[in-house]
Amino acid sequence: MNIVILAAGQGKRMNSILPKVLHPLAGKPMLGHVLDTVMTMGHELKPCLVLGHGQSQVEEFLEKKQYPTSIAIQEEQKGTGHAVLQAMPYVSDDETTLILYGDVPLIQVQTLQSLLRLAQDGAFVILTQELEDPTGYGRILRNLESEVIGIVEEKDASPEVKQIREINTGIIACSTQDLKKWLNQLEPNNAQGEYYLTDIVGLAAKQGVPIRTIHPQFGFEVEGVNSRGQLAQLERVWQGHLTKQLLIQGVTLLDPARIDIRGNFTCANDVMIDVGCIFEGDVEIASGVTIGPYCVIKDSKIGAQTQIKAFSHLEGAVIEEMAIIGPYARIRPGTNIGKQAHVGNFVEVKNSNIGQGSKANHLSYVGDADVGEQVNIGAGTITCNYDGVNKHRTTIEDHVFIGSDTQLVAPVTVGKGATIGAGTTLTKDAPAGKLTISRAKQLSVDWKRPLKSTPKD
Ligand code: UD1
Ligand code: CA
Repeated sequence: MNIVILAAGQGKRMNSILPKVLHPLAGKPMLGHVLDTVMTMGHELKPCLVLGHGQSQVEEFLEKKQYPTSIAIQEEQKGTGHAVLQAMPYVSDDETTLILYGDVPLIQVQTLQSLLRLAQDGAFVILTQELEDPTGYGRILRNLESEVIGIVEEKDASPEVKQIREINTGIIACSTQDLKKWLNQLEPNNAQGEYYLTDIVGLAAKQGVPIRTIHPQFGFEVEGVNSRGQLAQLERVWQGHLTKQLLIQGVTLLDPARIDIRGNFTCANDVMIDVGCIFEGDVEIASGVTIGPYCVIKDSKIGAQTQIKAFSHLEGAVIEEMAIIGPYARIRPGTNIGKQAHVGNFVEVKNSNIGQGSKANHLSYVGDADVGEQVNIGAGTITCNYDGVNKHRTTIEDHVFIGSDTQLVAPVTVGKGATIGAGTTLTKDAPAGKLTISRAKQLSVDWKRPLKSTPKD
C-alpha cells in the first residue's frame, strides 16, 4: 500500500512559527499521531509526505523520531490535487494509494483498515460523514441509484447542492495507476482556481470505476485542525475518549474531566486516580494503585497497591508494589523504589535504588545511591553526590539507620546495620554494625545573657 500524507499547508490561523502539523495534541505533534497510526498498520510502510511551509522543521522532527518516510515538496500550494501529484514519483503503481492529512490527527487504524478492505478490488473508496451542519465541506453527489458521481466544493456549490449533508472528509483510497492518470487531467476551473483532488471522483465515475463510501467509527477521527481553538477543542474530545476507555476498563477517575493523558497509558483495574493528574510518555500502572490529586507521572511503572500521594512528581521511575510515595515527593529518572518502601514529604530521589521496606520520609535528597532493605533515612539527609565535576555513588547497606541532618559525601559506603548519628558529615566509610558520628562535642558553661544598656544622663 502507498500512503500519501498532505502537510504542505501553512496553517496561517495558528499564528505560529511552528508548522501547523507539529503542534501537539495529547503531547504529540499532530503529524506524529498520523504517522504512528500508519506504522501500526504495517512497519514496512513508508509514507510519502508532501511538505511545503515549514519543511525543514518537519524534516527535523521526522529525523529525530526516525519515521521512515519519503518527502515530496510542493513549492506553491495550488490545491489538494496538485499536492497529491507531487507525491506520485514516490509511490508504486501496482498498489492502492491511501491519502491522509497531517492536520487530521486522530484517524484510527480500524477505520483505515475497513476503508482499505473496500478498496482491495480496485474500487475508489471515500471516507464520508453525515453532518448536521455541512457548511464548508465538499458535498458528495449521488445519482438516483445512489451511486457517487462526484464531489462539489462548498464554494462551487449551488443552493441545492449545499443542502446535501453527506460530506467528503478528504480521506480516500484508490488504484495508483488510475490516480496518476486522473491527477494529470485536473484543471483549476473552479471558484478557488485550484487543482481539486476531489475532481478525480467525477473522473472515476465517468470511467465506471466502482465508488464506495464508508463512515468513520468516531466523529473526531476526521476532525481537521486549522486554529488553536480547534486544536484545544479536539484535545478535550480526545481526552474524553481516552478517559471513557479507562472507566470501561475498571479505573476509577474521581473526575473524568480533570485528568490528562499524553502518551501510552496502561492502567490495570481498580486503580483510583484523583483530580488534576497528568500522565506523560509510557506509563504503566498495576492494579489497586491509588494516585492522589495533582500528580505528574512520566515514563514510569507503578506496582500493585502502591499509593502515590498528592502533588508528587515522578519521571523515569519504577516503583514496586505496596510502596508509599509523597505527598510532595519528586522521583527522578533512573530510580527504582522497592516493595513497601516509603518516600515521603519533600524528598527528592534521583538515579537511585531504594530497597524493600526502606524509608526516607522527610526533606531529603537521595541521588546516585544504592540503598539496601529496611533502611531508615532521617529527615534532612543529603547524599553529596557531586564534587563540582563528577558524580559519585553512595552505598547504604541493609538495616542502616541514618540520623537526621546527615551529609553523606560520596563516594562513601555505610556498612550493614550501621547507625549514623544525627548531624554527621560522613566523609569516610562507616563500618557495619557500629555507631558513627561526627559532631562537635556538646558542652554547657555558665553564661549570662547581656542586658540591654540603660541610657545615662
Ligand atoms: C478539502 C476538500 C473538501 C473536504 C475538506 C475536508 C479538496 C479540494 N477539498 O477542502 O472536499 O470536505 O478538505 O476537510 O480537496 N494542502 C496541501 N497543499 C495544497 C492544498 C492543501 O498540502 O496545495 C493540504 C492542507 O495543508 C490541508 C489539506 O491539504 O492539510 C486540505 O486542504 P484545505 O485547503 O484545508 O482543503 P479544504 O478546502 O478544507
Ligand atoms: Ca481543511
